[in-house]
Amino acid sequence: MAFERDDVGETCISCLFNKKGRSLVDKSAAKGERRMEKVIWDETFSVGVEMLDEQHKKLFKMLNTMIEAENTSVHSEIISTVLTEMRQYASEHFALEEEYMLEYDYPGYDAHKAQHKEFVKRTAMLCIETMHHSKTVPTEILEYLKCWWTAHILKADMQYKTLFSQMAFK
Ligand SMILES: [Fe+2]
Ligand SMILES: [Fe+2]
Repeated sequence: MAFERDDVGETCISCLFNKKGRSLVDKSAAKGERRMEKVIWDETFSVGVEMLDEQHKKLFKMLNTMIEAENTSVHSEIISTVLTEMRQYASEHFALEEEYMLEYDYPGYDAHKAQHKEFVKRTAMLCIETMHHSKTVPTEILEYLKCWWTAHILKADMQYKTLFSQMAFK
């Protein structure tokens, strides 16, 4: 499976390296084993709204659960279960962000909502695929999820930070 062009496709190449220039794939792992680094929430991911930050942290936790399972012989149910949970939780998170956007008259609402919709659609497809095909967690899925979440929060979500923060203190 290849993840080609989409909203975060171009970003994926650059976000394979984190802020400190370290590859997301840990090459120091045992020979023949690829281990992706977990994604750690820090203040650079803060969108200035505690509830949304907490939800982002929980989503990272779900992602890290899948990253931990990458090189173990897990049955596909584990990944499809976590992926399904992530899709459901992400949908709730997206609904809350969109509610704030409408309330605060955020100008980028339509484009932002389209990114959310695409993620839900893509993860629904991945859930089906993992249920039917994989015995281990495909690295491509983890790369997609990690790239999507980090790029979406740092680029798209960050754009509402100023407005949401101003409105919260009105
Ligand atoms: Fe978000
Ligand atoms: Fe968002």
